[in-house]
Amino acid sequence: MPHSKNNRRILFVDDNPNFLASIRRLLGSNYSITTADSGEQALELIGQQEPFAVIVSDLKMPNMDGITFLAKAKDISPNSVRILFTGYANLENAIAAVNNGYVFRILTKPCQEEDIKRAVDASLDQHRMLRAHSELEYLRKIGKAMEGIIFGFSALVEARDPYTAGHQRRVADLSAVLAQRLGMDRDRTQGLRMAAMVHDIGKLYVPAEFLNKPGKLSSAEFSIIKNHSQVGSDILSPVEFPWPLSEIVLQHHERLDGSGYPQGLRGDQLLDEAKIIAVADVVEAMAFDRPYRPGKGLDAALDEVEHNAGTLYDRDVVQACLNMFRNEGFAENWT
Ligand SMILES: [Fe+2]
Ligand SMILES: [Fe+2]
Repeated sequence: MPHSKNNRRILFVDDNPNFLASIRRLLGSNYSITTADSGEQALELIGQQEPFAVIVSDLKMPNMDGITFLAKAKDISPNSVRILFTGYANLENAIAAVNNGYVFRILTKPCQEEDIKRAVDASLDQHRMLRAHSELEYLRKIGKAMEGIIFGFSALVEARDPYTAGHQRRVADLSAVLAQRLGMDRDRTQGLRMAAMVHDIGKLYVPAEFLNKPGKLSSAEFSIIKNHSQVGSDILSPVEFPWPLSEIVLQHHERLDGSGYPQGLRGDQLLDEAKIIAVADVVEAMAFDRPYRPGKGLDAALDEVEHNAGTLYDRDVVQACLNMFRNEGFAENWT
């Protein structure tokens, strides 16, 4: 793979100025070459500048030898790939340096131009690989952080509305297993789980006394509660998640026949994730007690979704759900 000169920053360290001059002549047009005449000077450069892709050092230098220098360079700039130049007489030391992980390649002096280029190119490839790896690690960390934020959001709603504590997590657990049974891929299922963890986040804006009010709500109160899908979606929409979290949350009270809210969407306008959460949400809400009303129980909840399969709820989702509870004993671990 071609490298731009920008990604070809290479530091050569040698106490012989003639050697450094010949390197500049040899490689200067295709690579971005920096030179230093001692390990000390090179360490200073490494500390000051953007990381070098490759660091090449002579072994025999006064004051600081090449192995000591490269070991220090490794600490400061671990992703720079290191090459050691050595005479045959010192090969044993050089091999130890490779085995200790200080050095990626050894070049013996005198050295053919082609050998230098080949070693440098291999090191640049290695550097690219290391960088890709650390970027992946970084993305993984970001993913973890994002998950943490979602869980924090979830805890926020439940802190304010302790009567429904655990609701979102139980809906998320059930939704994720349903998705698995329905063959949704892992990445999408992860997004679904995140959405389910915060599907009621919009309730942050519903006055607490409405949320847990025993008995019937007035239609004005109910319409405020209904707002929570839109509000939740608005809270999430500025964040660029890798999944359509805001849309899923917006749709979690939509129903197949268009009787849901807030938009009255119909079957094929609904995201699969929303169809799954809809079933999990209803089953959880009916099956579990709330302090202001006892739950109707799991059997009644399953009857409800079964009865409305194909009209309110997606048939496949309902079928998977009934199967999980009636045949696979999912309820035992669903707490
Ligand atoms: Fe909801
Ligand atoms: Fe809910």
